[in-house]
Amino acid sequence: MTKDKTILRALAGETLETPPIWMMRQAGRYLPEYRATRAEAGDFLSLCYNSKLAAEVTLQPIRRYGFDASILFADILLLPQALGADLWFVTGEGPRLSTIETQADFDKLSAASAIHETLNPVYETVRILRRELPRETTLIGFAGAPWTVATYMVAGRGTPDQGPAHKLKDENPALFDQIIDRLTEGTVDYLSKQIEAGAEVVKLFDSWAGSLKGADFDRYALEPAKKIIAELKARHPDVPVIAFPRGAGERYVGFAKATGADCVALDDGVTPEWAAANVQVDGCVQGNLKSSHMVTGGQDLVDETRKIVDAFGKGPHIFNLGHGITPDADPENVQLMIDTVRNSVR
Ligand code: CP3
Repeated sequence: MTKDKTILRALAGETLETPPIWMMRQAGRYLPEYRATRAEAGDFLSLCYNSKLAAEVTLQPIRRYGFDASILFADILLLPQALGADLWFVTGEGPRLSTIETQADFDKLSAASAIHETLNPVYETVRILRRELPRETTLIGFAGAPWTVATYMVAGRGTPDQGPAHKLKDENPALFDQIIDRLTEGTVDYLSKQIEAGAEVVKLFDSWAGSLKGADFDRYALEPAKKIIAELKARHPDVPVIAFPRGAGERYVGFAKATGADCVALDDGVTPEWAAANVQVDGCVQGNLKSSHMVTGGQDLVDETRKIVDAFGKGPHIFNLGHGITPDADPENVQLMIDTVRNSVR
């Protein structure tokens, strides 16, 4: 594996003068070229499974901005779909899935080994990207972490407080554990295939980790991440893993060590000064500009960007937002963020 790519150098623990930069949801609705390709594909899921068009939208932000990394265009909910859940997206509202409330609902799911039939177009997208990306751009594959994916599978939709998943894990932990275990196994196979197709880094999105407290955090966020990373490292020892336990707060401390992750992605709920002292001491961190700056722009964006670059300047750091860019963001603010990062000397 070449280590001249800046993201790979940061993930290996190197402190770079200018942090490499990419952005969560960098291929998305704030870009007119994304909206045009999505209209051509029909709907969001058709775009995810159309390898040629999914590769095209992945490349769009690279062409426009020259980000240091490219993230595969897909979705964390393709895995439950590949396990047999029904999945559809309601425009303006978000995802809908068949729910899991009983053992009988769970028993209808497929074995983890059956996922590739559905997910083959995603691996093909990865292969196209490895051919077409500029040689300096790192390709990141991803999956949802078991807890976050389970919150959607149990409720059948996104929920403000992940209430249905909390209720099921408390009332029927044996059933809930089966869901987590199936997802853990499926995630390892899914990410392994992405790596075999050409992904150079993989990221595990635990978007709802912050709703797990105390022992629940250990059992449903930390443990599955640890198992997935251990198995991935056994199969692909050279491929770095980024973990994103969003909302973890104090639990960011030691998360990389406990799970074996090469980098933790930070949300904007922690200050860069605190995270530099308490999290970056263990290795590379990624983050954590508030996404709303991509909407509001101006001097605040410049000041906050510089603050983050400075605070993380003494260790390995990948610049990113604290969460995905939103559809109402102004593409010019993205350019301003990139210019600010690349022109800052630390
Ligand atoms: O970051 C990227 O550019 C890569 C592609 C990517 C998407 N989703 C595309 C997408 C990635 C990495 C994801 C991850 C994802 N998907 C997460 C975890 C990260 C996070 O944001 O917390 C989650 C929870 C999902 C599930 C999901 N997908 C939801 C809840 C929604 C609806 C909400 C929304 O933003 O519209 C999606 C849809 C989705 N996934 C879109 C994109 C570009 C918008 C769909 C569209 O074009 O209409």
